[in-house]
Amino acid sequence: MTTILTDNVLDLWATPVLTRRVPADPGYTSRLRDLILSRQGDPGGTMIGVVDGDKTRSDLLRWNAPEIEPLRDWILDAAETMNAHTRSGVDSTGRQVPMVAEAWGVVYREYGFHHMHSHHDSAWSGVLYVDTGNLTAGSGTIEFLDPRPAATPHAHQVLAPVPPEPGLMLMFPSWLKHWVTPYIGDSVRVCVAFNIGFAR
Ligand SMILES: [Fe+2]
Repeated sequence: MTTILTDNVLDLWATPVLTRRVPADPGYTSRLRDLILSRQGDPGGTMIGVVDGDKTRSDLLRWNAPEIEPLRDWILDAAETMNAHTRSGVDSTGRQVPMVAEAWGVVYREYGFHHMHSHHDSAWSGVLYVDTGNLTAGSGTIEFLDPRPAATPHAHQVLAPVPPEPGLMLMFPSWLKHWVTPYIGDSVRVCVAFNIGFAR
């Protein structure tokens, strides 16, 4: 019989992905949708990584509109949850390092999608779905690539955690590669994407 003197299994390098429903009622998401659509053509918006879609400028959290403050709070609160979960974001004295966030609206037209990418220069990234535009089930979803290189030849390398719906927020490490499958629907699919980093 084998005698075990010590025993411990380490969960190394797990990848946290937060899914959270924020208290965004239909009136709020409708107003935020209209706000994003009204700013869609502002100079400084891009189409980087997107096909059949547009991104607003990335200063959304500084827009002068009442919908922005709750959004900023939800994003920073979710980041605090992720920091606590991963025991990150504290300095040598144990104090929480302040966080800074940037966000932008993304509007996908029919068949619009986002190529695979990761987000640079930040700790956490995520999305809040604002209007899913009557999308066909299974379309317009974010998918994540298994970050373990040796796992990529295997079948379950892609994780699509939950179908998008208004008020659903996802947050994940900025280095995690992800993409958005084509939106199939009769309207537009609108979301807010964001990055959160530690203030230096
Ligand atoms: Fe992204």
